[in-house]
Amino acid sequence: MQKRTVLLVATATVAALAAAGALAFAAVVWGGLYNVSATSQHLQLTHTVLETAMRQAVRLRARDLTEPPLADERMALRGAACFRDKCVQCHGAPGVAQGDIGQSMQPVPGPLVDARRHWRPRELYWLTRQGIKMSGMPAWEFRLGDEQLWEVVAFMQRLPDLNAPAYADWMRRAPACVRPPQPLQASVDVDRGRLALAQHACHACHTIPGITGPSAHVGPPLAGIASRQLIAGTLANTPENLARWLVATQQVKPGTAMPQLGVSERDARDMAAYLATLR
Ligand code: HEC
Ligand code: HEC
Repeated sequence: MQKRTVLLVATATVAALAAAGALAFAAVVWGGLYNVSATSQHLQLTHTVLETAMRQAVRLRARDLTEPPLADERMALRGAACFRDKCVQCHGAPGVAQGDIGQSMQPVPGPLVDARRHWRPRELYWLTRQGIKMSGMPAWEFRLGDEQLWEVVAFMQRLPDLNAPAYADWMRRAPACVRPPQPLQASVDVDRGRLALAQHACHACHTIPGITGPSAHVGPPLAGIASRQLIAGTLANTPENLARWLVATQQVKPGTAMPQLGVSERDARDMAAYLATLR
């Protein structure tokens, strides 16, 4: 008898707590209670928990990467060029302030002058290549070649030793940051194509099955694209033509509302291969 009462009370308590939890969740989500403003700061505890989770996630995933030699000065100079073009706007550099975007982001991108102390080279490579979800740190995998990613890491190894004049001198000597043409693979890679679609922001304008994103209707939905006769009403729908549309959008159909996104041949072929699965 007594046992049953205890069980009943326990069940009722759990049910009441669950209901209260669901109500609080509904108030936060549908009642708009959570302030998403980038000027509203996290609690210190929230910040610490998020940062720890991020740090551990990077450590785990970078564990088995092999590091190339990073000591060559020419390699670091090429990295300095890409660092200047792709990173300084958000992270700043010795004697160089972060740009407007970097200064006002939440979380704020820290200066990378002490990155060498916090991260191993392979972790810096992983962070630069993959980016950090929900922070604004972009993934560079589809913008910089693999060698360039390591070159940026090589430069970050030298960054702590540079004062402002020394940094300025490196910038004077640094070449341009130009991505070498990617070797075309013998076969297309559907999974890579799916990643590339998200990384080229296709889902900002199109809803695409298999890609999480807003319900965007600036461009036509791409569900069933493989069964359509024509691409954008102009080109016969073959994988080669689809890749061409993605690389040379404005040449194929001058003045079309779809911008030309600077997509490489390899990325285009992989994206076309993924789109070809959408029957
Ligand atoms: C659009 C802004 C932006 C750009 C451009 C950018 N980052 Fe970041 N980066 C961030 C943000 C935001 C964070 C996250 C900060 C946090 O979580 O505390 C971050 C974090 C990092 C971290 C982890 C740092 C740490 O110790 O917390 C590294 C390393 C890094 N970025 C490297 C780079 C490199 C290398 C480049 C250039 C190839 C780059 N970032 C370009 C915004 C940017
Ligand atoms: C800024 C918005 C925008 C972005 C970003 C964008 N598109 Fe488009 N896309 C459009 C518009 C608008 C059209 C219709 C163009 C037309 O018919 O002239 C279109 C047409 C297309 C078509 C032809 C669809 C059909 O039914 O014929 C394909 C395929 C396509 N886009 C794929 C992509 C891919 C892949 C990406 C990313 C690499 C991308 N788009 C990025 C706006 C966009």
